[in-house]
Amino acid sequence: MEVLVAYASKHGSTAEIAAAVAAEIREHGLGADCVAAGEVADVERYDAVVLGSAVYLKRWQGDARHFLRVHAKALAGRPFWVFSSGPTGDPAEDDVAWQEPKRTIARAEKLGARDHVVFGGRVSPEGGRMQRTMAEGMPEEYRDRRDWDQIRAWAAGVAAELRAGDG
Ligand SMILES: Cc1cc2nc3c(=O)[nH]c(=O)nc-3n(C[C@H](O)[C@H](O)[C@H](O)COP(=O)(O)O)c2cc1C
Repeated sequence: MEVLVAYASKHGSTAEIAAAVAAEIREHGLGADCVAAGEVADVERYDAVVLGSAVYLKRWQGDARHFLRVHAKALAGRPFWVFSSGPTGDPAEDDVAWQEPKRTIARAEKLGARDHVVFGGRVSPEGGRMQRTMAEGMPEEYRDRRDWDQIRAWAAGVAAELRAGDG
């Protein structure tokens, strides 16, 4: 069984999450390719798809939104999961409305997405001007909120569902 992990990332942190998801799926004995959403030519040859995007100003990246539209038929016909990344800063100040691009997630759910999870993200002072301003405005410990145990556990759940034949 071959799984496609497609992602859209501006500054690389979502790409690293996607790579960890693919690696965990492989650990569980399935094949997994990790590919930038804008570079995926053929979804039909995969048995299942995970699609993830960084969220900027409450929106998924254009490549991930485009992927949902262009591959809608293929996605509707196979097991499909989505993730977003991600909140940074003090978790006590998390605002769900800021993290979840509602219309896009509704579209994914309409295509049959089995789960949508929001992983913490990263803002780095080495990014662009906006990133730097955001990063410098928050305590260092909240600049990278990616929880690798949470990410691996979620990916293991995806693999387990596929292996159980729920796909
Ligand atoms: C200008 C800017 C806007 C952002 N807007 C959001 C947002 O609306 N919701 C959210 O959850 N995170 C937001 N973030 C945080 C990013 O999603 C986070 O940094 C993410 O990990 C970036 O992923 P990437 O490195 O793959 O581009 C924003 C970050 C920046 C710099």
